[in-house]
Order: sequence, then C-alpha cells, then structure tokens
Amino acid sequence: MDLYNYIPREDFTQRHLLSMQDYSANEIYQVLSLALKLKKENKKKIFHNNILKGKTLGMIFSKSSTRTRVSFEVGIHQLGGYGLFLNSSDIQLGRGESIEDTAKVLSRYLDGCMIRTYSQKDVEDLARFGSMPIINGLTDLLHPCQAFADLMTIYEAKGVLRGLKLAYIGDGNNVFNSLLIACTKVGINISFGGPKEYQPQKDILQKGYLNSEYSGSKILITQDPQEAIEDADIVYTDVWTSMGQEEEALRRYEVFFPFQVNKELFSQAKADSIFLHCLPAHCGEEVTKEVIEGKNSMVFEEAENRLHVQKAIMALLMGD
Ligand code: CP
Ligand code: NVA
Repeated sequence: MDLYNYIPREDFTQRHLLSMQDYSANEIYQVLSLALKLKKENKKKIFHNNILKGKTLGMIFSKSSTRTRVSFEVGIHQLGGYGLFLNSSDIQLGRGESIEDTAKVLSRYLDGCMIRTYSQKDVEDLARFGSMPIINGLTDLLHPCQAFADLMTIYEAKGVLRGLKLAYIGDGNNVFNSLLIACTKVGINISFGGPKEYQPQKDILQKGYLNSEYSGSKILITQDPQEAIEDADIVYTDVWTSMGQEEEALRRYEVFFPFQVNKELFSQAKADSIFLHCLPAHCGEEVTKEVIEGKNSMVFEEAENRLHVQKAIMALLMGD
C-alpha cells in the first residue's frame, strides 16, 4: 500500500469519527494519505486556508489536554476555519443541560464539534441528536485521533503497515483499545502485555478478532511483557493511571511496575523497533528516560502527527 500515492475514492460526507471501528481500511488509508500530503505541504508553509474557510469547529473539553486542544485549534486555523474552545464546566452542559439539547443547539451554530469527555455514550449521543460531524477527542473507552497519528508515524518510519508487529505494554485502556482497532483494521499484528486485573475488555477484543478475520492481523494477549515484546517492530506504552482514575494511582503503580518499558525490556524488541507513547508520559513509571529519550523513540514526531491527521479528518468530514 503506497500511501504517498493513494487515489482517494471514499465519501466522508455525513460522517463522524466516534471510533475507528466505523471506518473501513480504505477510509483509514485515505485519511492517512491526506495527512501525509498535508504534512509535506505544511513543511513548505502551504496551508490550504480555503478548505474550511468560514467554518467553525466547537471543541468541548471535560478533561485536560495539551496536544488535542492545540493541534485541533492550530489545524482548523491553518485550514481557514475557526476553533471555539468550550470548557464543559463553563457551558450549561456542566450544569446539567442534556447532551441532546446541547447537540441540537450547537448544530445550529457550528460546522463540526470535537469532544473530549468521560463517557463514550455522550459522544455517540452528540452525534445522534446533532446534525454536524462529531469527532471523538478521547473518552474513557477510545482515542481514535491518537490511533490515526500512531498509524501515520508507523508508516513514516517503516514504509508499510501490514505485517508489522506492535507490542503494547501496560494498561488495557482507551489508547490501547483504539490501537487494537487501528492495527487490526490495517493488518498490523498486535500483542498486549499487561497485568491480570488490567487486561483489555472483552467487547473491544471481540472487535479486534472480527477485524482480524478480514485483515489477517494476529492478536496476542498475555500477562508476560517479555513474550509480548519479542521481535516487535513498534513498542507502545501509556500512563498507568488515566484521567479520572487518580484515586487508584498508588495501587496501579504497584501492579504495573513489572511492566515498565526500560532498556532491558526494550532490548527484546527488534533492533530497529520504534518506541511510541501518546504523551503525556510519566518518565520513570511506564517508561524510563533512556527509552523515551533514546534514538528509537519517535514520540515527538507522533505528537506532531496529531496536527496532520486531524487536519485530514476535519477536511474530509467538514469540507465541502
Ligand atoms: N495524547 C493526547 O491526547 O494528549 P493530550 O491529553 O495532551 O491532548
Ligand atoms: N490514557 C490516557 C491518555 C491521555 C492522552 C488518559 O486517558 O488519561
């Protein structure tokens, strides 16, 4: 699959990005291909500020963010539109106005809306009751924009997707869930190594197995980080305590410590493996300084790619 010369043929009008599960492999390739093109042009200071000229993206945040907020806001600005930051506690949603009414009202003003919140159902309801494209900017369940940036970074590093092995070490959380879906859509083999009590949830795994029947991806779920990481082309980890789980932090620290991605564990992946992390990282917990700052780490390229994939997503979903 040559994503630098991919011929676009999918129709994204009337679409949302709630989960990558709703996208076919070809739709994923089209997003990635456009993102690669926009990135190349961005480096030449070509911004295409006509694509979303006069359009407004609402950005609702119920949780903190650096990358998602800034990359969406800069991204829509570069495409000629306007990004409206809405802290959920500043709007009536935070005082109990329903998602249904919020969706109906905001659809009268906005051309699209990105939301970062707790419940995946709230994101789905925003799409159900509104009449504008909705983009999931992270829920407790999923983080599809991150997974798009991850696939882009992997493709840039390796030149292929299908047949690679990604090892995810740590918590079976939102970032893992979206990665599992992403990898099994495009034929990347994925292994998970994490403690017994934080294994991936069954309904997400079922989606992964279903996707792999079409893509040929192999899935390995283990409690042994060494087994998971063996011969990996990509090593991925995320924080042990996600937003909203702060009161469990101490317990999680103890349980996850044997799953730290340190030099010794990382050396069991392929010599040319890359290290990815969605960031923010807790250096000295899920990953050591040596690994995240090492020559195989691509975490800042990965963070940059949030800008390019989200520009592609907004252009496809909100463009004329
Ligand atoms: N990776 C990511 O979504 O980062 P932020 O929480 O800073 O948006
Ligand atoms: N799993 C983390 C990802 C942050 C981008 C969280 O949900 O807090």
